Amino acid sequence: MATAGIKEVARHAGVSLGTVSNVLNRPSTVTPTTRQRVLDAIAELGYVRNDSARQLRAGRSRTVAIVVLDVANPFFTDVVRGAEQVVEEAAAMLVVCSSGEDRAREHRHLELLEEQRVRGVLITPVGHGVQPDLERLHARGIPVVLVDRGCGQANRCSVAVDDVLGGRLAMEHLLERGHRRVAYIGGPFAIPQVADRHAGAAAALADRGELRVTQTKGLTVAAGRRAAADLVALPTAARPTAVFCANDLLALGVLQELTERGLRVPDDIAIVGYDDIEFAGAAAVPLSSVRQPREQLGRTAAQLLLEEADGGATHRHRQVVFQPELVVRRSSERPWR
Ligand code: RIB
Repeated sequence: MATAGIKEVARHAGVSLGTVSNVLNRPSTVTPTTRQRVLDAIAELGYVRNDSARQLRAGRSRTVAIVVLDVANPFFTDVVRGAEQVVEEAAAMLVVCSSGEDRAREHRHLELLEEQRVRGVLITPVGHGVQPDLERLHARGIPVVLVDRGCGQANRCSVAVDDVLGGRLAMEHLLERGHRRVAYIGGPFAIPQVADRHAGAAAALADRGELRVTQTKGLTVAAGRRAAADLVALPTAARPTAVFCANDLLALGVLQELTERGLRVPDDIAIVGYDDIEFAGAAAVPLSSVRQPREQLGRTAAQLLLEEADGGATHRHRQVVFQPELVVRRSSERPWR
C-alpha cells in the first residue's frame, strides 16, 4: 500500500491541508477536537511526515554529522557520546561517518554530507588534504568544527588537546622511572596528533636517552602487535625498556604481543598509551595513559558548531585547547632496574 500523504490525511479528517500542517507544526493554533480528528486520521492511515523535504523547504537541516577516523576506536565512541548529548538537546540528530583513516572515503563522506545540506560537520581529518572539502562546505554555508585537532587558521572552530604536552608528560614520566631507551609507536605521521605526541616526547628526551621510532600504517591494535613483534626481535641489549604509543589501541596491541611472546610488562618493558579509554584501565596489566577529556571534546565541538550554525554573523570562531593528564598504572609505575 502506498504510504499516505498529507492530502490523504486532510481528506480523511475532513479538514484543509493548512489545518493538518498546523496540527503537525503549530498544534496550539488548532482546537482540541479538530486536532484529535487529524491525529486519529494520521494514526489510521499510518502517515509519517517527510522531514527531509520540510527541512529542505525550511533551508535548515536538523542533522549534524561527525566524521571520525575509526569508528572501532573507543576514543571516538566517547567523543560521539558527548556530541550527541548537545545535538539531541537542540532537537537535532547526529549521524556518524567513519573515514577509516582513508582520505578517499573521507572525501566521499563530505561530498554526500554536502548534498544532504546537513546543519554542520564535526570532523577529525585524516590529514591536511581535507582542506578543499572543508572550504567547499564553508562556501555552501555548512559550518565545520575540527575535533581532536588544532586549527592554525582563525576561519574555523576547533577543539583539541595539547598533544605536544601530552607527549612530553609521557616521556618525562618514563625518564623519571629510569628509562633511557624508549620506543615511540604510532602513525601515520600525516595525522598531526601522532606527529605532535612524538614531538613532545622527543623534546622531553632530548639528549638524555635514545628514542626508537616505529611509524605504523594505522592506529589500531593490529598495528601495535606488528610493531611490538619488531621490538621483540631486537637483541636484548638493544631492545627499548619502555614503549610510548600514540594511542591506547596501539598500546593494547603492544601489551598483547609482548605477553604472548613471554615478555613481562612492566618488568621487561614498560608501556604508556594515549587517550585513557575505558579498556586502558581494564587491561590485564592496567595501562598508564595520557588522558584526553573525550566526552568534553565532543560536547564542546557540538556547542561551537550549533552556535555557528544558528548564530551566523554574531559567531566568533574559537580554537579550544584542553590540557592532557597523565594517568599512571601498573604498566609503567615501577622504577626501572
Ligand atoms: O585522532 C587520532 C588519534 O588520536 C585517534 O586514534 C585517537 O586515539 C586520538 O588519540
